[in-house]
Amino acid sequence: MSAPEKRQGFVLWFTGLSGAGKSTLSQAIAPLLRQRGLMVETLDGDEVRENLSKGLTFSKEDRDTNVRRIGFVANLLARNGVCAITAAISPYASVRAECRAMAQVPFIEVYVNAPLAVVEARDVKGLYARARAGQIPQFTGVSDPYEPPARPEVEVDTSKLSIEEGVDLVLRYLERRGLIS
Ligand code: ADX
Repeated sequence: MSAPEKRQGFVLWFTGLSGAGKSTLSQAIAPLLRQRGLMVETLDGDEVRENLSKGLTFSKEDRDTNVRRIGFVANLLARNGVCAITAAISPYASVRAECRAMAQVPFIEVYVNAPLAVVEARDVKGLYARARAGQIPQFTGVSDPYEPPARPEVEVDTSKLSIEEGVDLVLRYLERRGLIS
């Protein structure tokens, strides 16, 4: 029996403010990558915090732990041929750099960049209003830092692009890198 064709796994790391569109983009892109024959797993911030990182707070220390865990698991998956998609705020550049350095596979950072004013106006989960009212301390973008990536592989401004256009940008980048065909 011949071995199945081995695909190169990679980490597709979405970073950006809450409500910028990380989860939406990752949910839209996952089935398209599967259609192209890739194995795909998604580590979504909200979901990870329900299990792998249950009990962690939003202090810098706990966010760093959360993001390192995501990076660790993403690498385990990706080195076995999976496209590991992550969608956590991952606000600190140094910890994102650690995750990149840890990766034994290509690491594609996608900066989901929408201005704070726009995500705040959307306020899909109603969290920005609560943060402004002082009900959620250390809220990213309001009372806690977000360090934008200096050189992301892809940048998607979801205030200017539709989800389809954002997905397309990412897919075209992955094609150019030869990670999908
Ligand atoms: S991270 O900073 O550790 O990467 P993560 O992506 O896991 O964050 O979780 C972010 C989600 O948690 C947000 O989308 C929001 O729904 C919720 N949340 C609750 N409290 C906070 C907070 N203080 N700052 C940011 N997001 C928060």
